[in-house]
Amino acid sequence: MRIITFGSFDLFHIGHLSILQRAKALGDFLIVGVSTDALHYMKKSRYPLFGERERMAIIRSLECVDEVFREESLDGKAHYICQYRANVLVMGDDWAGEFDWCKPYCSVCYLPRTPNISTTRLLREIRTLEER
Ligand code: CTP
Repeated sequence: MRIITFGSFDLFHIGHLSILQRAKALGDFLIVGVSTDALHYMKKSRYPLFGERERMAIIRSLECVDEVFREESLDGKAHYICQYRANVLVMGDDWAGEFDWCKPYCSVCYLPRTPNISTTRLLREIRTLEER
């Protein structure tokens, strides 16, 4: 089974590793679409700390990841699913329901997020430490 998932994966943390490992466990080939810097800006209204090349290099180095590509548009999901011949689309449950429109192309599975950690939260915590 070929699994596909997407994300920014900026300031890589344990929640990112966990979803990628759980996604891989659903099949035997994991493909990861990493948001370009422009797409990241569109989603989060700020640029990532690490550029897309660096974020892709980190994801590519993981044992559970088999293939990495640049995700340029959120609407491109169906195109990417077909291009990479994915059988299952995995997303964190912060996106629950949002990609049900991809069901004609493959199965869609929302996995629970790791609690109490996110890049935004880490950035906030680092800023608070700096202000002390
Ligand atoms: N993710 C997760 N658990 C977390 C954080 C992220 O499972 N605690 C998952 C998301 O659901 C998504 C993938 O990791 O499928 C990439 O998420 P991304 O938006 O890049 O990371 P966040 O830490 O959520 O970033 P931000 O705080 O900037 O929204």
